[in-house]
Amino acid sequence: MAKIKTNYICSECGYETGRWLGKCPSCGSYNTINEESTQRLKPSSAGYFAAAETLDQIKTLSDERVKTNIEELDRVLGGGLVQGSLTLIGGDPGIGKSTLILQICQSLGDKGKKILYVSGEESSQQIKMRAQRLGITTNKLLLLCETNLDIALNAAVDIKPDVLVIDSVQTMFTEEVSSAPGSVTQVRECCSKLMRLGKGNNISVFIIGHVTKDGSLAGPRVLEHMVDTVLYFEGERMASYRILRAVKNRFGSTNEIGVFEMLENGLKQIKNPSEYMLSGRPIGAAGSVATCSIEGTRPILTEVQALVNYTTFNMPRRMATGMDFNRVILLIAVLEKIAGFQLGSYDSYVNLAGGIKIGEPALDLAVVSAIVSSYKKIPIDAETLIFGEVGLTGEVRAVSMAEKRVLEALKLGFKTMIIPKDNMRQIKAGKDVKLLGIKSLSELLNIIL
Ligand code: TYD
Ligand code: MG
Repeated sequence: MAKIKTNYICSECGYETGRWLGKCPSCGSYNTINEESTQRLKPSSAGYFAAAETLDQIKTLSDERVKTNIEELDRVLGGGLVQGSLTLIGGDPGIGKSTLILQICQSLGDKGKKILYVSGEESSQQIKMRAQRLGITTNKLLLLCETNLDIALNAAVDIKPDVLVIDSVQTMFTEEVSSAPGSVTQVRECCSKLMRLGKGNNISVFIIGHVTKDGSLAGPRVLEHMVDTVLYFEGERMASYRILRAVKNRFGSTNEIGVFEMLENGLKQIKNPSEYMLSGRPIGAAGSVATCSIEGTRPILTEVQALVNYTTFNMPRRMATGMDFNRVILLIAVLEKIAGFQLGSYDSYVNLAGGIKIGEPALDLAVVSAIVSSYKKIPIDAETLIFGEVGLTGEVRAVSMAEKRVLEALKLGFKTMIIPKDNMRQIKAGKDVKLLGIKSLSELLNIIL
């Protein structure tokens, strides 16, 4: 018998090696390298497109975008779904990918699009129950519970849907590859078959991919280079809001996010995330500061909270949730140096309310203000918004899109804003707002203390 050809492939990044390794040399993940058969059992047919064309021979696809009428999604897609495109939706298991896609099916069904939903995870009864809960009524949706991709593709060729959904790619297999479903080789082969089907028949394909931590399944990252659009659905399972983020988009900007909330009857769009994030903010409490960060091109107001507490232990505890821990340590150090606070004998906990994660330096000034406010037990006026980057010498540096942040805060009724002085010139906001431009941390302390 001929020896079966195998290779060792990283399920995180797709790195291939001839032998097993504990740590992937390419992406640095541990225990993600698995043995896989790379043998092809049947020769696959090659050469789908043969005739080359000049640019003017090619039809333009100008108005082929379909609005899903879920505005948060349309924005992330860059203005709607492009017919014939391949979209990958990745996310942790249980985050709401199947829920989102069913709701997309409803919207597209309302637009008269025929949809084939192939599920390898749930039975038709389970999907029906979920659909009832979500109020899905469209009769343009056809369900198929199948894990053999070749059978599903034959069905798609027969049914000729406008939209094909594969939930999830890790449960699908093609007989042409002998390795197990969910392995890198299988997932890649399935994806490339879907790509050929979609581009060849002008079907928009949605592929759902689970992000797995343990590396036993191939993650959506190994498919990113093949598809047109990569969206990640993120959020804490405990917090109810979810963010849909474009990581790659051949038809639009990757800067956009969509915000949703998971309710009992499905995902609801959050059209005003700032209001949502600031709801329930304590008024007049020391250690709470409102700030504005930019997610993509959208300003989102959030609340930074700090708790600075005297400790009798030798090592003070430091904790940061929702932001970079090392950045918080650095800001505490700057504060000790500039203001002379003895924070070494205080525990410091800093938290972004609502469970959101932000990695923007524009948060610095608000973090510092929250720490000072909690340390000195002096509340910061609830109608004051603070943003700006803080440097190591205590200087306050300009941030991008300052005007956008100010306008968003104005909309939600903030009256005073403490911002970097270098940003003052760009802001033409009206007379109803008091802008305080500062250049250094000591100016900040003068204002808030
Ligand atoms: P699901 O879409 O199945 O996640 P995924 O496909 O990403 O694995 O969503 C699973 C979670 O969402 C589940 O734990 C329950 C919750 N959920 C709601 O809160 N409301 C709903 O209407 C639905 C359908 C699910
Ligand atoms: Mg699912």
